[in-house]
Amino acid sequence: MNPTLLSSPLQGLTDFRFRNAFNKYFGGIDVFYAPSIRFNGKREIKPAYERDILLSNNTGVEVIPQIITSDADEFIFAAEYVQKLGYKELNWNLGCPYPMVAKRGMGSGLIKDPGKIDSILHRVHSESSIIVSMKMRLGYEASDEIFQVLPILEKYPVKSIAIHARIGKQLYKGVVDLDSFQKCVDTTGHTVYFNGDITTVGIFNEMVKRFPMIDHWMIGRGIIADPFLPGMIKNNTTEYPENKIELLSKFHQMLFHDYAQALSGPHHVIMKMLQFWEYFATLFPNSRKELKKMKKAKNINAYEDAVRALFNKEKNQ
Ligand SMILES: Cc1cc2nc3c(=O)[nH]c(=O)nc-3n(C[C@H](O)[C@H](O)[C@H](O)COP(=O)(O)O)c2cc1C
Repeated sequence: MNPTLLSSPLQGLTDFRFRNAFNKYFGGIDVFYAPSIRFNGKREIKPAYERDILLSNNTGVEVIPQIITSDADEFIFAAEYVQKLGYKELNWNLGCPYPMVAKRGMGSGLIKDPGKIDSILHRVHSESSIIVSMKMRLGYEASDEIFQVLPILEKYPVKSIAIHARIGKQLYKGVVDLDSFQKCVDTTGHTVYFNGDITTVGIFNEMVKRFPMIDHWMIGRGIIADPFLPGMIKNNTTEYPENKIELLSKFHQMLFHDYAQALSGPHHVIMKMLQFWEYFATLFPNSRKELKKMKKAKNINAYEDAVRALFNKEKNQ
């Protein structure tokens, strides 16, 4: 078996800077889904979204752009826009759990409105040649909402349905509902991708055993918490490379450098890096003291000192 591994998008984290640094030092991901393009009432794409998906900023990495919307005109506008940039596929985010989004009938809040999903897909497929793929939860309020949507998706040539088998209301709590995931696979004729809580090679192998019909696996938080994970899954090993800390240090350096160039002022750069450290910290179980120093850092030097101390400690262990 040769699984296809997909990077599940994390807004604010898996942008082109992360993707490029990840690909340079780790690899193992076949396709990266870009975090959602979101509109704010206007029919325009913000420069930050454009920078994120420009092909020139993503050389050597395969990317699929994503949109979050409940409006057919916005969808068609975004489809034309990404096609002009050179993309053939647009992924539709029906998974976002945040109440501010879901209560406005977007993300996982749209799942309970199959009629609207139908009318949007109808217009998109009549007025655009974009290939549509879906990323969904099981529902917002209840895990059976998706079963009203799957029959509608049968009418359209959607490329794939990635399912994060939780409901929106759960946010990221509780466990993934594997029985409902299986039911989705049994219900739809479309290709289903698995998403949710793959954080180790062991868990990945358990999922492969349980769902032998699945060959596309989306990993979100697990890739940031352990950037070696996709490579280790591909090589079916639980052994880290000997130069693990060196690679992590170089990866961190590239991310840090690229954000320092892009963001204004030390505060913003340190805050951005701390977002990553919330995940990286799992790789460094004895890092409490250094992480505290990073959080307290008021300038770049203090932050870099704390990071250096942590990597040196790990190297000497
Ligand atoms: C901070 C954060 C940002 C996210 N942003 C997006 C997003 O822009 N688009 C999307 O489809 N999913 C987004 N997700 C959901 C993840 O892609 C993924 O579906 C979810 O975390 C479950 O997979 P995992 O357990 O492998 O992380 C986000 C999740 C988190 C924690």
